[in-house]
Amino acid sequence: MERVRLMSEGNIPCHVAIIMDGNGRWAKKRGLPRLLGHRKGVKALEKTVDHAAAAGVKYLSAYAFSTENWKRSITEVAGLMAIFGRYIGKKTAALKAKHGRIRFAGRRDRLPPSIVRALEAAEESTRDETGLQLILCVDYGGRAEVVDAVKKILASGVDADAVTEDLLSARMYLPDVPDPDLIIRTSGEERLSNFWLWTGAYSELYFTETLWPDFDETALDAALASYAGRQRRMGGRLEA
Ligand code: FPP
Repeated sequence: MERVRLMSEGNIPCHVAIIMDGNGRWAKKRGLPRLLGHRKGVKALEKTVDHAAAAGVKYLSAYAFSTENWKRSITEVAGLMAIFGRYIGKKTAALKAKHGRIRFAGRRDRLPPSIVRALEAAEESTRDETGLQLILCVDYGGRAEVVDAVKKILASGVDADAVTEDLLSARMYLPDVPDPDLIIRTSGEERLSNFWLWTGAYSELYFTETLWPDFDETALDAALASYAGRQRRMGGRLEA
């Protein structure tokens, strides 16, 4: 019995990454403003963080705002920024009490300074926590992350011959965070939309029709069960 339990624990992904899609459609179906869908999405994220931590997931990254999301209406962008600020202000202490750590991946030069300050303060105050790491991807784009890494490498004056995959990996936003094992996208859309392009090269993908605000413990369990049943070859071949 014990052995079975230990074996199934081995199939829990270390890093789960989530594209939280479908907030707008969830709201539209109910005749509500889009921002109410995003607010309900915050609740789904809170539930998911707790359940993922209980399941043994060590890193949970959430695609909260992409480098392309600036194209949305001013009202929606401002509303999302307000939601991020409120979430960080209110929830950092609660996460810290559960030994959770908050981190932030994305560009820092275009966000409202108050949001960058809040994110950095949350990072700082939870730096020493050893529980689940919640990585908020805000003004994040996989292509921008690669461009930023290349800029850092050029600025350091490295010889072209010294540029390797390991060097690029070391210049990504969070080089100590393991690559995502599982990327979940909700709402029936099946694409990466510029999420974790470099580190997600060998991630398992899981798509569900569930709209993000409806995502709950059962939905996460279904994604984890799907992952547990997969064999990851990472480009290699398993022996027969
Ligand atoms: C995509 O749904 C969702 C977003 C662009 C925002 C995600 C943000 C949250 C869930 C808020 C919680 C985040 C934090 C960090 C507190 P969509 O608007 O594209 O939905 P649609 O495709 O149905 O229109």
